[in-house]
Amino acid sequence: MGKNLIYKRRSIRSFDDEEVSDSLIEEIIKDASHAPSWQNAQPWHVYVAKDGVLDRIKAEYKNAKKNNLPSNTDITTPHRDNRSDLSMKNIEEWGDSVKEALGDQGTDLPEFQEARADLFHAPAVAYLTAKKNASEFTIYDIGSFGQTLMLSATSWGIGTIPAYALVTYPDILKKELLIPDDEEVVIGIAMGYPDDSKLNCIKTTRTDVDNILDIRK
Ligand SMILES: Cc1cc2nc3c(=O)[nH]c(=O)nc-3n(C[C@H](O)[C@H](O)[C@H](O)COP(=O)(O)O)c2cc1C
Repeated sequence: MGKNLIYKRRSIRSFDDEEVSDSLIEEIIKDASHAPSWQNAQPWHVYVAKDGVLDRIKAEYKNAKKNNLPSNTDITTPHRDNRSDLSMKNIEEWGDSVKEALGDQGTDLPEFQEARADLFHAPAVAYLTAKKNASEFTIYDIGSFGQTLMLSATSWGIGTIPAYALVTYPDILKKELLIPDDEEVVIGIAMGYPDDSKLNCIKTTRTDVDNILDIRK
């Protein structure tokens, strides 16, 4: 895998209608399954929502949002108090990148809100699950799986975004995707062909390596 692939991947927040074929999805998930995991336990399962199932999830998510149902992810969300000053600065800079692409409204831009509410108009969403009460090492494994999935997708010209917005109502996902009771939903990754929306023009930066690296000798 070339270095270019790493830099080519970026989050896509608006997809066109073109289908991602089942055979390509199989290929990408096969690549992802080569991610490392604790004792090679491969503690993941993938449910891909497409067509009618995905349409129903989108409709039910919109309904849940309209009724102000509180979001209720299976795994814990990061808390502001546990963030480093550097992370807080990075988050602020992300906000600036968004405004640069979308204007002063940033993520409040109606187009952004509508795309998110429609699960980025994606034609396919891969939901990664683990056994309930997964250890932090298992969540780490699933993170590796997810990144490998996204890099593989990039190599096929498929855009992706891993998103909290995709997993806010796990009960709806479990019902529609027939996810067994002993599994928890870790993350959703939307997949598809990017459209030409400005939502796909957000260019993020990274902090200097000096800020994240100490080589001790
Ligand atoms: C666990 C996770 C959850 C995320 N949730 C959202 C989300 O709900 N909405 C969104 O627009 N982006 C979401 N993102 C995408 C990040 O904003 C994005 O990865 C980051 O800004 C870096 O940009 P890049 O992916 O284009 O390199 C999420 C990313 C991760 C890893």
